[in-house]
Amino acid sequence: MFVIIQHSRPKETRSEKRTGKAMNEGQRELTMGEALAEASAVLRSAGIDESRREAGSLLAHALKRDRTYILTHAERTLASRDLALFRHYVNRRARREPLQYITGHTEFYGLDFIVTPDVLIPRPETELVVDCALESLRANPAPLLCDVGTGSGCIIVALLNELKNARGVALDKSPAALAVAKLNATRHESLNRLQFVSADLFAALSSAAQFDIIVSNPPYVAEKDLPALQPEVREFEPRIALTPGRDELGVFRRLLADAPQFLRPDGYLVFEAGWNQHAAITELIDARRWTLLEVRRDLQGIPRTFRLQRKI
Ligand SMILES: C[S@@+](CC[C@H](N)C(=O)[O-])C[C@H]1O[C@@H](n2cnc3c(N)ncnc32)[C@H](O)[C@@H]1O
Repeated sequence: MFVIIQHSRPKETRSEKRTGKAMNEGQRELTMGEALAEASAVLRSAGIDESRREAGSLLAHALKRDRTYILTHAERTLASRDLALFRHYVNRRARREPLQYITGHTEFYGLDFIVTPDVLIPRPETELVVDCALESLRANPAPLLCDVGTGSGCIIVALLNELKNARGVALDKSPAALAVAKLNATRHESLNRLQFVSADLFAALSSAAQFDIIVSNPPYVAEKDLPALQPEVREFEPRIALTPGRDELGVFRRLLADAPQFLRPDGYLVFEAGWNQHAAITELIDARRWTLLEVRRDLQGIPRTFRLQRKI
């Protein structure tokens, strides 16, 4: 699930200990260029690495324009209402609220997804789950999919967008997350091919459900590791999306044990794991029930995505 999430490389940023500046309510008029420079300094002092780029995104959001407009109109004076809104966004970001919760959206698998604080912000490495699923389903013209812990719906909506004859079930314990997944399914025209189920893993499914593939990016951070996460993650993303509790492998154990019941005999299970969980998860795989087809590495070289096939 997590690139931005630093549970792949937990780090305490130096800036957390700094008292960041805020963007003040000055009386003076500012051009876009001046406002950007001021915001960029505020964000930098709050420990945000890409302060200039993020300031540009926040100004674009405040003006409901794209970033090119901002870059090409640096001399234009900002209306006081726009400047006040921009400062409000910058000050939220300086308190380390994720950019995506402020702008309300993010990109995943080439699609724009709505995100709210009820859902995990989709991470680039989770696109590997989509890639692995698509490769597994190449020979299947109309597959039935199940996404366990769907959150924003990014995985299953991206899959349904690629596979126009597929149908699916999006499961999540959080009804608030499912509401966001529904918005995204609507936005990307897959609502009529998706069923939404609020449940603890497979608890609400009839064992008659036989999927071609089960995909999942489950919570996998150990509770004890939460304090080491970046403040954006630790303080703003839903705890239920981050950690299953003390046993960080808890959801993997349950998926590996229960998924065969809900899969066709040669069906697939594809899931994402944490940066240091490869060996422990490999140990959990019962070779009588599963063939481990591959573990795909992410761009950082971390073994990230498990692809398994149910044994007949
Ligand atoms: C890491 S997030 C993944 C969200 C999304 N699939 C993605 O990749 O961005 C995990 C999701 O699993 C859900 N979840 C956590 N425990 C669950 C459980 N026991 N049963 C069903 N869903 C659960 C959370 O609410 C959260 O939406």
